[in-house]
Amino acid sequence: MPDPNRIIIFDTTLRDGEQSPGCSMNLEEKLRMAQLLDEMGVDVIEAGFPIASKGDFEAVEAISRTIKNATVAGLCRAIKKDIEASAQAISAAPHQRIHTFISTSPLHMKYKLQMSPEAVLDAVAESVSFARNFTDDVEWSAEDGSRTEDDFLCRCVEAAISAGATTINIPDTVGYAMPDDYAAKFTMLRHRVPNIDHAILSVHCHNDLGLAVANSLAGVAVGARQIECTINGIGERAGNAALEEIVMAMRTRPDTMPYKNNINTQMITKMSRTLSSITGFVVQPNKAIVGANAFAHESGIHQDGVLKHAQTYEIMTPESVGLTRSNLVMGKHSGRHAFKSKLDDMGYTLGENAFEDAFNRFKDLADKKKNVFDEDIIALVEDETGRDNENIRFVSLVIQAGTKGPQIASIELDVEGERKFAMSEGNGPVDAIFKAIRMIIPHDDAVLLLYQVHAVTGGTDAQAEVSVKIEENGKTVVGQGTDADTLVASARAYIHAVNKLIDKRERTAPPEAVMNKSERAGP
Ligand code: KIV
Ligand code: ZN
Repeated sequence: MPDPNRIIIFDTTLRDGEQSPGCSMNLEEKLRMAQLLDEMGVDVIEAGFPIASKGDFEAVEAISRTIKNATVAGLCRAIKKDIEASAQAISAAPHQRIHTFISTSPLHMKYKLQMSPEAVLDAVAESVSFARNFTDDVEWSAEDGSRTEDDFLCRCVEAAISAGATTINIPDTVGYAMPDDYAAKFTMLRHRVPNIDHAILSVHCHNDLGLAVANSLAGVAVGARQIECTINGIGERAGNAALEEIVMAMRTRPDTMPYKNNINTQMITKMSRTLSSITGFVVQPNKAIVGANAFAHESGIHQDGVLKHAQTYEIMTPESVGLTRSNLVMGKHSGRHAFKSKLDDMGYTLGENAFEDAFNRFKDLADKKKNVFDEDIIALVEDETGRDNENIRFVSLVIQAGTKGPQIASIELDVEGERKFAMSEGNGPVDAIFKAIRMIIPHDDAVLLLYQVHAVTGGTDAQAEVSVKIEENGKTVVGQGTDADTLVASARAYIHAVNKLIDKRERTAPPEAVMNKSERAGP
């Protein structure tokens, strides 16, 4: 008998999150995220939308081959070839789910689908029963469910369950619902749909009015037992409900929410940082749970209170989300072994080459920087992770800058084992560096969309973490670079982005289904 208070955490960072502009990830990055999500205890990982592109299909397939504990879900429209693609992509997963959806609101049926309600109802039953040929675990979603008329929603939900859906998801697709309305929808379904007890009800909320977490918890309060959410709340427009906020709200307030879930909350900070580092999406400093200020106490009165008794101003401990207090870790005399055990403590496992590179860079950093903090090591390791197979690697940089004379960059790269040099002038040293890289690796159609620098720690000797975003023919990639020298960090970030661009060119094939963006996965 399953525990009636157990909440299923369904993470859609790799699907709803990844499809939002600027959050795209390549296959290795998705795999890395999926492995961490699995380790954190997520119950369902929505790995992608397999019909959308060759890259999406391959990522879902690779995740399915790798993930051992979580159920892997593939999204699909109510169309046979979508469902077949999902079924094929998840077929290697030990636990598989097909997630099929169709719009049910009057607005979406009339303008987006141009289908009558009766035709939509038929598609619900047909798509779910077709999906059941491949797996017993089928989720059906009523896109724009929160704006769907009650009578029609009841008919669709009943038809989906009769056809074999085991989870029924009612998304607040456009983030329009208020907590009371959203909860009322679930209460209404539980009263009116005769077979409702044969499926698990699920919430899926977007954050357009800043209510995604509140709405999700309101749905749970009236019987929903699955929450769909994303790390850092990434997702279309204002994003989805943030996993870390939901899980910590339940953990902090068991008095009003006596629910259980399987998440190891101590992995939250690492998950959040890894995602930010992969996507270049920096979390706002005052973001709940994972923002840089979430556990900072600035005012004297607060600091005094916390010192006397932490609970005066802290409703949860930094340790509960895996935040270690900034501590001095190591210096220039620390050896390989100490560095390796520090990485183990922080939960990082690097391949042989990446470890060597990270260790050498740590030594360089310890020479330049008096105090090396946990944050420095995390930034450095994130900079190496997943880059073992890059074809273009940074070797050295010489810059002429300042107020007198032109700004000139001379750069040396390793391109597939061959050393290449270029020298370029530019409007400032960063422009000169990027131009020199372009001379070695031409990518004339690409445009720089974003160049952003932030300091990893305080102090003038802090490492710089640079993010760049470039776009080529509608495809965007984000690169990251870290170094005590901001210009070296800029070169590393740009090279990282160029590597990803080349990888993306090779992997992205035209979508197998002709679908416009609005149809891709709903708003
Ligand atoms: O927001 C939404 O409606 C969705 C569905 C495809 C589940 O993401
Ligand atoms: Zn969504």
